[in-house]
Amino acid sequence: MSETSLTRFLIEAQRAGQLNAELRLLIEVVARACKRISVAVGKGALGGVLGDAVGDSGGDSINVQGEAQKKLDVLSNDILIDANAWGGHLAACASEEMPHCQPIPDAYPRGHYLLVFDPLDGSSNIDVNVSVGTIFSVLRARDGVPAEDAHFLRSGNDQVAAGYCIYGPSTMLVLTVGHGTHAFTLDREQGSFVLTRRDMRIPEATQEFAINMSNQRHWEPAMQGYVDDLLAGREGPRGKDFNMRWIASMVADVHRILTRGGIFIYPWDRKDPDKPGKLRLMYEANPMAMLVEQAGGAATDGRRRILDIAPELLHQRVPVFLGSREEVDTATAYHLRHDAAGRESGR
Ligand code: AHG
Ligand code: MN
Ligand code: MN
Repeated sequence: MSETSLTRFLIEAQRAGQLNAELRLLIEVVARACKRISVAVGKGALGGVLGDAVGDSGGDSINVQGEAQKKLDVLSNDILIDANAWGGHLAACASEEMPHCQPIPDAYPRGHYLLVFDPLDGSSNIDVNVSVGTIFSVLRARDGVPAEDAHFLRSGNDQVAAGYCIYGPSTMLVLTVGHGTHAFTLDREQGSFVLTRRDMRIPEATQEFAINMSNQRHWEPAMQGYVDDLLAGREGPRGKDFNMRWIASMVADVHRILTRGGIFIYPWDRKDPDKPGKLRLMYEANPMAMLVEQAGGAATDGRRRILDIAPELLHQRVPVFLGSREEVDTATAYHLRHDAAGRESGR
């Protein structure tokens, strides 16, 4: 059989009743924007796109997260906003790089969906030529009223589609519309995404974990105990050796886990105790949790299922534990056991 392009895959999914024409258009538009970002990322130093963005006052450009923006953060955000403005499929978008949601300009028809994205994930890797990506999540808009930030505050269970595009040695789009997780590889000569893995499945057990170990001393006791036991290997209570990987691009770490299993963890830590975690619920944790669950994996904040969390803020942060189901369950059990012991001892 001839190869299946993203367009064909989406048309067949529409025929199967998995999505409507408007959502299909939305995904095609996001995929097209990701191709443009892939071209910019791929040019590297030749495209003049490396390095920090310059703010209005001539200093570093700082985003709403308090983080310095890279030129590619800003460029990728602009590409996604421009691509999605005129198609009539969106009511508004929200992004890691913008303080508030952005309604579709009055000049264009408004659609029925809300798009949330991290335009460029893994920015610290841009200048060192390591994989980065775009993460996105789609919600249904409220009909008949102009979109505002509050309309985005819905649990991950309400996502109708989620995905990411990884800009690595090859560019890949990984997508779910709630019926499995599927991977498409960009054929650069043809300019189209081609289905290369239907129904990705994450192995249930793993011997590989991904975490930034430099934060170890700042973790809570349950987390310390869990990782101590991983590091104890075959001689410890887990009875097996573990390997570690940390790319510092969530997209790249999650892509490895979707491909060969593993657990990805960014826990709460005491470095900045006011922040409930580093990663953002709406445009990092929720879409990745949906992709991972649709591939048979699990995703929690160490205690609760990520997709059940009711968000209170657009840029809300959350601890993240996701990947191979058995390992996520084990890590979550360490936290719940620790909480229960604390309650019993009256702490
Ligand atoms: P972003 O570049 O969109 O701000 O996200 C970076 C995130 C995530 O991709 C990665 O897993 C994590 O930050 C890395 O954090 P450390 O630098 O603390 O390891
Ligand atoms: Mn990110
Ligand atoms: Mn980002």
